[in-house]
Amino acid sequence: MSEGHFKGRDIVSIDHFTTDEIVWFLDQTQKFKDAKKNNEFGYSKLLKDRVMGYAFFEASTRTRLSFMRAARKQGMDRIGFGKAEGTSLEKDESLHHSIEMLAQYEADVLVIRNKSEGAAQFAADKLDIPVINAGDGRHEHPTQTILDLYSIRETQGRLENLNIAMIGDLKNGRTVHSLIKALRRFPGNKFFLVSPPQLAMPAEYVHSEGHPGSLEDIAICYTPEEALEQADIGYVTRVQKERIADDKERRAVLGAIQVKQSSLRNVRPNLKLLHPLPIDAENPEIEKTLYRTHPQHIYFFKQAGNGLYSREVELCAVVGAIGEDFEGEGYRHPERSDKNVMIPLPIREKIGDEKERKFVYSIDNGVVIDHVPPGQVIRIYRELKLENAGGEVIFADNLRTGRQGMERKGLIKLVNHQLSPEEFKTLAILCPEATVSIINGGKVAEKYNVQLPDKVDGLLECQNDSCISRNPREDAPAVFYTASRNPAILSCHYCDTRHSLERGNIKIILK
Ligand code: CP
Repeated sequence: MSEGHFKGRDIVSIDHFTTDEIVWFLDQTQKFKDAKKNNEFGYSKLLKDRVMGYAFFEASTRTRLSFMRAARKQGMDRIGFGKAEGTSLEKDESLHHSIEMLAQYEADVLVIRNKSEGAAQFAADKLDIPVINAGDGRHEHPTQTILDLYSIRETQGRLENLNIAMIGDLKNGRTVHSLIKALRRFPGNKFFLVSPPQLAMPAEYVHSEGHPGSLEDIAICYTPEEALEQADIGYVTRVQKERIADDKERRAVLGAIQVKQSSLRNVRPNLKLLHPLPIDAENPEIEKTLYRTHPQHIYFFKQAGNGLYSREVELCAVVGAIGEDFEGEGYRHPERSDKNVMIPLPIREKIGDEKERKFVYSIDNGVVIDHVPPGQVIRIYRELKLENAGGEVIFADNLRTGRQGMERKGLIKLVNHQLSPEEFKTLAILCPEATVSIINGGKVAEKYNVQLPDKVDGLLECQNDSCISRNPREDAPAVFYTASRNPAILSCHYCDTRHSLERGNIKIILK
C-alpha cells in the first residue's frame, strides 16, 4: 500500500483540511463515481483485509449505511455497533473503553457518531488509528460537508460566487456548521439564513476567525421565499427535536419554517434543494407535494447517494491506499505553547510623585497588579482566591491614571506573594491590559504585561453542557486555544465553543 498524503489523518473537523485538500477529496469522489458508471477497474478493493471500526451511539441511516457499503466495496472487514443496546454501554461502560476495544480488535480506522460535542476529537486523542467524525452532537459533520460540496459543485459547476440559502435549524444542525465554514473559504459566496430566532446560526460560525468571509457575506432573511428567490442552492435542515429538551420550546419551533409551493414561485431555474436528511415526516420542512410538482429542484436523494463515493475516498485516504498524487498546500496542526507570554515593560527609575509612590508601590516585597479596568478588582480578588494569599491584600478602584485610553483604573497590592503561572493566565483572561510589577526590597524588580499563551490547559471549564469535557465518565481534561488575546477569547479544543467575558461564559477553576 502506498504512503498517501492523508495516511493516518483524522477527519474530525472541516477546519483541519486546507482548501486544496478539500478540493482533492471532491476530485477523487468524482473519479470513484465515474469509475462505477463506466465500469472502470482500479477503484475498488483498495482496502482488502483492512478493518473499519464503527461506533454509532446515535441513530443514523445514511452515514452508517454509506460507510458500511463503502467499506464493503473497498474489501474491508467491519466491526462495531449501530446502537448502544446489546453492548456494554448498557452496563455504563465509558465511550473511551468502548472505542478502545474496536482498536484492539484490529480496526484500522474508526467511524464514530456521538451526541457529545467533541466526542470525535476525544476519540482521536485517545486512539492511534485515524478517527472519522460521523457527527458529534450539534458540533460538526465533516464527511457530510464533503458530499455536500461535491453535490453543490456537481449541480452548479463551481463552488464560488454562489448564493446559498440555509433554512431551518441552524443552531442545532451540525451539517450547516461544517458547511458554512467550508463554503466561506471560496470567494464570492453569499449566505441567506432563515431560521426561527431561537434556532439562529451560532456566533462562532457567523464570526468564524481564520476564514476570509466577512459579515457582509451573510444576510438574515425572514422567510424561505425571501432567501430562495436569489439562491442557487437551498440547503434545508430539520428541526433537531432530539436536541431540544424543553417541550414548550420544541413545540414552538416544530413546523415553524417550511419550504412549500409558494416558496418556489420566483426561483432561479438552476436552484437545487439540498438536505442532509432525514426530513421530519410529521412536521415536514419541505412540503411533500414538491417532489411531484418541482422535481427539477429536488436533489437530496442524489446528494445522499454521493456520500457513498465520498466516503470510499475518505476511508481509502486515511488508511493510506490513495493520496500520493495530492499536490498543493497540506494542513498542519498549529504548534501551540502553553507558556505565558510575558512582555517586559520599562521600569521607571523614579516613580511618579510622593502620592503615587505611596499609593502604588509602597510595599517591600510582593506584587502590584496595576491598570485593572475599573470594576474588575473585586472579580480578580475572587478569581485569584486572594483571601488565601497569606499576606495582606490592598486594593483600590477608580483611581485617576495618565495612561492613554484609560481614564480610571483599579490596583491590587499583594504583600509577600508571588503569582503562579495559572494566576498570571487568569489575569490575562480577566484584564489583558493590566501591568504586573514584582517588588523586591521596596523596588520594582520586574514589570510585565502578561498575555495568554496559545493553549490553556486545565484552568477553565467549558460552559457547553454537551461538551465531552463535561462528561464525568470520561477523562477529557479541558483544553482551550486562544482565538484572541485582547479581549481574551478562548475556544474549546473539543467543541470549539468560544468563551469570553463578553459572552459571560468564563468559568475559571483555579485550584
Ligand atoms: N445526513 C445524515 O447524517 O443522515 P443520517 O443521520 O441518516 O446518517
